[in-house]
Amino acid sequence: MKIIWAVSSCVSAVHAAGVGTCCTRLHSELGANVSFLGEPAYNATENSYWSLQEAGLKPGCIVRPLASQDVSRAVSIIAATAGCNFAIKGQGHAPAAGFANIQGGVTIDMTGLNKTVLSSDRTVVSVGAGASWLQVYLYLDPFNVSVAGGRNGLVGVGGNLSVTSLVNDISQRGQVFQAVTDIVSSANFDIYTSLVVGFVYNSSSKAWIISNSAVYTRPVLDPPVFAELAAVPSISNSSRITSLAALANEAATPPLNWHFATATFKPSTQFMLEIFDILNNTLYSFNPSGGVVWDVAFEPFPSVMLSHAAKTGGNVLGVQPEDGNGYSMYRCIITTGLC
Ligand SMILES: Cc1cc2nc3c(=O)[nH]c(=O)nc-3n(C[C@H](O)[C@H](O)[C@H](O)COP(=O)(O)OP(=O)(O)OC[C@H]3O[C@@H](n4cnc5c(N)ncnc54)[C@H](O)[C@@H]3O)c2cc1C
Ligand SMILES: *[C@@H]1O[C@H](CO)[C@@H](O)[C@H](O)[C@H]1NC(C)=O
Ligand SMILES: *[C@@H]1O[C@H](CO)[C@@H](O)[C@H](O)[C@H]1NC(C)=O
Ligand SMILES: *[C@@H]1O[C@H](CO)[C@@H](O)[C@H](O)[C@H]1NC(C)=O
Ligand SMILES: *[C@@H]1O[C@H](CO)[C@@H](O)[C@H](O)[C@H]1NC(C)=O
Ligand SMILES: *[C@@H]1O[C@H](CO)[C@@H](O)[C@H](O)[C@H]1NC(C)=O
Ligand SMILES: *[C@@H]1O[C@H](CO)[C@@H](O)[C@H](O)[C@H]1NC(C)=O
Ligand SMILES: *[C@@H]1O[C@H](CO)[C@@H](O)[C@H](O)[C@H]1NC(C)=O
Ligand SMILES: *[C@@H]1O[C@H](CO)[C@@H](O)[C@H](O)[C@H]1NC(C)=O
Repeated sequence: MKIIWAVSSCVSAVHAAGVGTCCTRLHSELGANVSFLGEPAYNATENSYWSLQEAGLKPGCIVRPLASQDVSRAVSIIAATAGCNFAIKGQGHAPAAGFANIQGGVTIDMTGLNKTVLSSDRTVVSVGAGASWLQVYLYLDPFNVSVAGGRNGLVGVGGNLSVTSLVNDISQRGQVFQAVTDIVSSANFDIYTSLVVGFVYNSSSKAWIISNSAVYTRPVLDPPVFAELAAVPSISNSSRITSLAALANEAATPPLNWHFATATFKPSTQFMLEIFDILNNTLYSFNPSGGVVWDVAFEPFPSVMLSHAAKTGGNVLGVQPEDGNGYSMYRCIITTGLC
């Protein structure tokens, strides 16, 4: 017992010394591309995390490489220094604390490596390790090509697409869920469909709404695939033809605490209604100061999507086209205070 204790104390001592030594070496090698607590560059990285819980970690120093050689020099120093732990940050969107930041280690912020280059035959795009999807979309738009990147995972969109945002009263949930179920279960799923249907509860307004993002990855207004959804009376709706870059260019959310969970289910209106009832019977007693928002969203996961996976190596969850149509559900809890 004593020995274990001695070893772990020793490890912490080396760890603490390692970070200081490591940051000093990094600074002498990479100059102002290494920043420390209290400096504007350090703050700029800390303030660029999407979630509050990630931004709350304080690394001993932050390295911001501007060339790939800087990365290899930084990694060589880190690897040669005992007890120097590090984290890598891209756009900082992964919500959990410690995914892309580190308490008392070295954070390498890759966002300075953002160069994007399209091959002359327009079939391959090389993207810097720290670029955002928006930068990639903006770069590619004038070439009328695109890639399946973040936010909706739109496949093969060059040029324009159709976007409809609909808000329904929660009392319309039966009709909305039925429309989603019918879209996901269709024997001829329209592959240009991208749909997110969610119900949202905000403890400040104490109100539920249903919000739908119905995107069609061709420039067609009111595509037939969304007809059943569009027929449900709505509180607001907007339809427009726009580009992928404009769609993905969402306003940044303020730093908040986010907790995500996800699961995949067979299409079922009844089950969606039961999920709502369970929430409606359980969530009001969770009332942290600063308020809480619950967001439960459904996205079609049709088997036709899986049928394309085999030729690109299968999918990581091992789901097969024979498993049939489904939808994935994600549940997100958002708070401003710690909970
Ligand atoms: C609001 C929101 C919407 C989203 N929508 C979509 C979507 O539509 N489609 C989709 O696919 N995903 C979506 N995501 C998930 C998102 O794509 C992932 O969280 C992604 O990992 C974020 O990348 P990042 O560079 O911003 O995050 P970071 O937090 O910077 O990085 C994510 C992880 O990758 C590691 N990493 C980053 N860069 C490197 C590198 N160069 N070398 C080695 N490791 C590295 C980090 O250490 C970290 O563990 C969404 C997330 C949010 C919060
Ligand atoms: C930061 O890195 C760049 C690219 O390697 C280098 O040109 C520049 O001199 C570095 N800045 C300082 C202050 O060392
Ligand atoms: C860094 O951010 C902190 C808190 O957000 C602020 O108090 C401080 O003045 C900032 N420092 C610099 C150098 O920007
Ligand atoms: C790309 O990185 C460079 C170097 O840090 C920076 O000046 C530029 O603003 C970045 N581009 C974008 C679109 O963020
Ligand atoms: C992209 O599409 C537009 C509209 O169809 C066309 O005018 C333009 O020439 C195309 N650009 C390229 C690089 O193909
Ligand atoms: C996309 O739509 C805009 C107008 O809404 C138009 O100016 C542009 O040419 C369109 N681009 C393509 C590639 O069709
Ligand atoms: C919740 O509602 C309040 C009051 O209407 C609003 O200020 C806040 O932005 C909402 N929160 C979210 C995460 O939408
Ligand atoms: C949006 O509202 C208008 C008028 O209120 C209606 O004509 C149109 O069909 C609606 N579209 C959708 C997609 O709900
Ligand atoms: C939530 O549950 C309460 C209590 O059972 C019920 O009165 C209310 O109508 C439900 N809310 C909705 C939107 O159905």
